[in-house]
Amino acid sequence: MQNDQRLTPEALKAMPKIDLHRHLEGSLRLQTLLEIAQKYGLDLPAANIERLRPYVQITDDPPNHEAFLAKFQVLRHFYRSPEAIYRLAYEVVADAALDNIHYLELRFSPQALARVRGFLLGEVADWVIAATQKASQDAGIEMRLIVTLVRHDPLEQAKQVAEVAFERLGAGIVGLDLAGDEVRFPAEPFMPLFQEARRLGMGVTVHAGEWASAEGVRQAIMELQADRIGHGVRSIENSDVLQLVRERQVALEVCLTSNLQTGVVKNMIHHPLVDLLNLGVRVTLNTDDPSVSNLLLTDEYRVAVDVLGLGYGDLHKLVMNAVEATFLKSDERERLRAHFLTHLPPLANAA
Ligand code: ADE
Ligand code: ZN
Repeated sequence: MQNDQRLTPEALKAMPKIDLHRHLEGSLRLQTLLEIAQKYGLDLPAANIERLRPYVQITDDPPNHEAFLAKFQVLRHFYRSPEAIYRLAYEVVADAALDNIHYLELRFSPQALARVRGFLLGEVADWVIAATQKASQDAGIEMRLIVTLVRHDPLEQAKQVAEVAFERLGAGIVGLDLAGDEVRFPAEPFMPLFQEARRLGMGVTVHAGEWASAEGVRQAIMELQADRIGHGVRSIENSDVLQLVRERQVALEVCLTSNLQTGVVKNMIHHPLVDLLNLGVRVTLNTDDPSVSNLLLTDEYRVAVDVLGLGYGDLHKLVMNAVEATFLKSDERERLRAHFLTHLPPLANAA
């Protein structure tokens, strides 16, 4: 609806939001990266942010997943010390709060943070837990952590990372994720780890139907027992998979700009978000990697409105879908539902 006061730039910024799909390693402040590069003398052009930017953020890169994942290889060099990791993690949560995200499920890869300096996986996880909990208290944002296993890292390492996550259940870690190169690395080897996560009562989310076909979504649901799918937008290419996603109300964690930057869609106007919503799929809207993509969640809402033509009712639905898809316990989810129904602009009140 035109002139809807709930869709102005200020209103979208102020709207209480949820992000269920945000990678810590893709959410780092460039100013802090610059300071770390200078302090530790990293072998990167670090005279100023503009020199550093193309190494850690999509600029004029080709739209494919290799170029996107390459940024994470560079980012690994910034995890120099416990203090650096603590500061980076703290700021990620503080920045989410500044964008009026009231509930955040932040995922991180202990192995990515530990690798270059050889930190222990468990100690790295503890720094992230401490930093994000402190930021959550300071900024007044509710959040939980998800641990990400990476398909293209060795399986042996994934086992160790999963163990670190299992040991920290109840310390803010609520879910297990599978990310990385979906094209060349199948999900099967990770199946026992996800079954164990399920057995322990963790939430399961799997990146699938993003860079590879809808079949990966079926496998994630049927074999890895995923509650949610990272992206999953290519479910729309296979009616059986689409039916499965709908029937089970598996939430899709859609991230619009990431899909454009990695070539999932050639043009934003072709993004299937609207079709998925209209088909009754439990779609949510998220950022993926806000600093790699140079955006806020508010910007993704703007794109949904301006490019895809969503109205306020659709945005409200996306947020309430996210409430239902959180990895919270049912009483916590109930509280969150009440919070959002109280704080979101009401549905009926047009213009
Ligand atoms: N790691 C960070 N962002 C990712 C994405 N969009 N897909 C898979 N792995 C990722
Ligand atoms: Zn992701």
